Amino acid sequence: MSSRRDFMGMALGGFAALGGIAALYAAKRTWDPLPSVSAAGFTTIDLSAAKENELAVEKWRGKPIFILKKSSSMPKSDRDIEVGGNRYLVAIGLCTHLGCVPAYLPSDYMFKCACHGGEFDAAGINTFGPPPSPLVIPPFKINGNSIVLGEEGPEYKKMKDAGLTA
Ligand code: FES
Repeated sequence: MSSRRDFMGMALGGFAALGGIAALYAAKRTWDPLPSVSAAGFTTIDLSAAKENELAVEKWRGKPIFILKKSSSMPKSDRDIEVGGNRYLVAIGLCTHLGCVPAYLPSDYMFKCACHGGEFDAAGINTFGPPPSPLVIPPFKINGNSIVLGEEGPEYKKMKDAGLTA
């Protein structure tokens, strides 16, 4: 009897370990897909490898940063950032309600926050539920095909003056 229990324990442990590895692999793929360099509070991210309608999540000053390359069928927004002829959403990936990390639903072009059901469109604008404001756009500067987070470039200043960054 006890050996059967041991076997069941081992089998379950094995499944749990496999699940953990799969989850880590999925997280790694989702969390670090674009080449980036961080130094002294600035993070430079090369957007050349970004894929349309596929969310990339980078890190800047300990915060998740959403980068979403828009496809031509995705609605245009004043919050779009143009780099190398393509449109992007770049935003801090923390729900403006209580700070959870929303998930991106590519088929619906929207973000959904699992904590209290808040929703944001692909421009990061709050469209439903408790979030009081859009996802925050971090200070950025465009440099060729890269975006530098942490520096206020002219495009960011323009958006900030127009009240579009938060
Ligand atoms: S933290 Fe996102 S809806 Fe509450």
